[in-house]
Amino acid sequence: MLALVLLLVMSLLYWSWYTRRRSDEPPVLPGAWPLIGHAYLFIGDELNFWKQLQYITSECMNNGHAMSYYAGPYKFYVVSDPDDAYKVSNTCFEKDQFSHEFTKELLGDGLLFSAASTWKRHRKLINPSFNQQILDGFIPIFNKQARRIISQLQVEVDKGSFDHSQYVRQNFMETICLTALDDSIDADEAVSYVKSFETYMNCNICRFHRVWLYPEQLYKFSNIKKRQDKCVEVLHRVCDSVLQKKRAQRKQTKSSEWKDKNGGAKPKVFMDLLMELDEGQLTDREIRDEMNTIIMAGHDTSANVTIFAMVLIGSHPPVQAKIYEELQEVFGGTDRDIEKQDFSRLVYLEAVLKETMRYYVMAPFVGRYIDQDVKLKNCTLKAGNNCMLLLYGIHRNPMWGPDVNEFRPERWLDPATLPKNPNAFVGFSLGKRNCIGKAYAMMSMKALLSHVLRRYRLRADHRQLVLKLDVLLKPVTGHFVSIQDRLNI
Ligand code: HEM
Repeated sequence: MLALVLLLVMSLLYWSWYTRRRSDEPPVLPGAWPLIGHAYLFIGDELNFWKQLQYITSECMNNGHAMSYYAGPYKFYVVSDPDDAYKVSNTCFEKDQFSHEFTKELLGDGLLFSAASTWKRHRKLINPSFNQQILDGFIPIFNKQARRIISQLQVEVDKGSFDHSQYVRQNFMETICLTALDDSIDADEAVSYVKSFETYMNCNICRFHRVWLYPEQLYKFSNIKKRQDKCVEVLHRVCDSVLQKKRAQRKQTKSSEWKDKNGGAKPKVFMDLLMELDEGQLTDREIRDEMNTIIMAGHDTSANVTIFAMVLIGSHPPVQAKIYEELQEVFGGTDRDIEKQDFSRLVYLEAVLKETMRYYVMAPFVGRYIDQDVKLKNCTLKAGNNCMLLLYGIHRNPMWGPDVNEFRPERWLDPATLPKNPNAFVGFSLGKRNCIGKAYAMMSMKALLSHVLRRYRLRADHRQLVLKLDVLLKPVTGHFVSIQDRLNI
């Protein structure tokens, strides 16, 4: 008994020594409990997680834009000032200690969570795969996918409100698979790949909400881990099989002679591009990690922005009317495919997408590991801790003007109404480790919406949305949108 009391006293003493604030460090969020710190805030579901993140963001913004909090033995800094966030992101290139741990079996050394040394080499190698010429090669796929969702949505016409998120998510998952792996993935493989991806992500979310499963030693005995392992096995098997098929294809025919299933010229997809770098530069394992990373980072994000955009457009009839007017002008009143030169002409649609991403920031924070002391405007972040850059706070900064909390796409049309700070918009994060797929994302979303909004009129009420935060900010499943076919109006 005495030993137990002694242990408790020692732990408490260590805790108060450990959590004492060094003079130039950010202030600590009020309400830390002995030993567990602020971890209790995060117990609960994804709705609570979003609520707590909003709370932490507002505390941070009201306390000099930098604070710290404790989750058990871990100290986290939070930063909401755009210049400070930029400084952190371009000084510390390591990701936080948890993201890699939770995803390493699937994503391994893929760009999103790889160690800084690997990331620097891979990002340099992979950057050219996202150049404009390559992206233009995907336009036929974007058009085909947009036409696919239009015909799928027919069953919902005039039926009242429905949950459009399933259609949109499935569509973006197919699109990213087609542009990453192409049709070398057969139909059965594609189905099991998509299912396994979803289950894998859900397992990670389950783990995230069970703090006791954070340590690998406990997690490996859980049923969640067993389920996740099965998914990883499928995902790796499918990716390896596509890699082998592609190797065989490359031996038999030159890339200029590749044909799709209908005999048309086949664009080079991401896996082809990574294999071309291949000769000694990336191993099969590294290619697989990068493919899974591109698929994971690329589909749910774009799908969610599109899901939110459709709700916001349906909720703001004047915005929808303006988009429709622009579409009529650019496409001359026809339902033709979107072409290369059309993308830059869809100025208002782009403003709507950017405003959607500002208003509902998809990744409300990104994590970094502070591997060296970083001096910020009013304080210093000490090496050895994790840091969350609060992108949500940056998008709600008063620099956006008195209408910061309103959805107003018009702000993007006149540079004078935008903040002067170059780091004000962080929908794709900031600094050198920002999103590599931002141009791809804008093209695929514009392509899909340019088709859907020419054909359908949306109705929605964004005030009904209840939000949750798992990996991304998402609406809790619900029926928010209804559609009318413009051909019948
Ligand atoms: C609207 C859609 C998208 C949003 C909102 C988004 C957002 C983000 C964010 C916030 C990050 C984290 C950056 C950081 O840690 O600072 C990221 C990284 C990344 N994204 Fe995206 N993304 C989108 C679409 C895409 C697409 C379509 C692809 C691929 C085709 C993609 C591939 C990646 C990759 C590979 C990374 C890791 C980059 C690195 O660490 O070098 N993303 N994205």
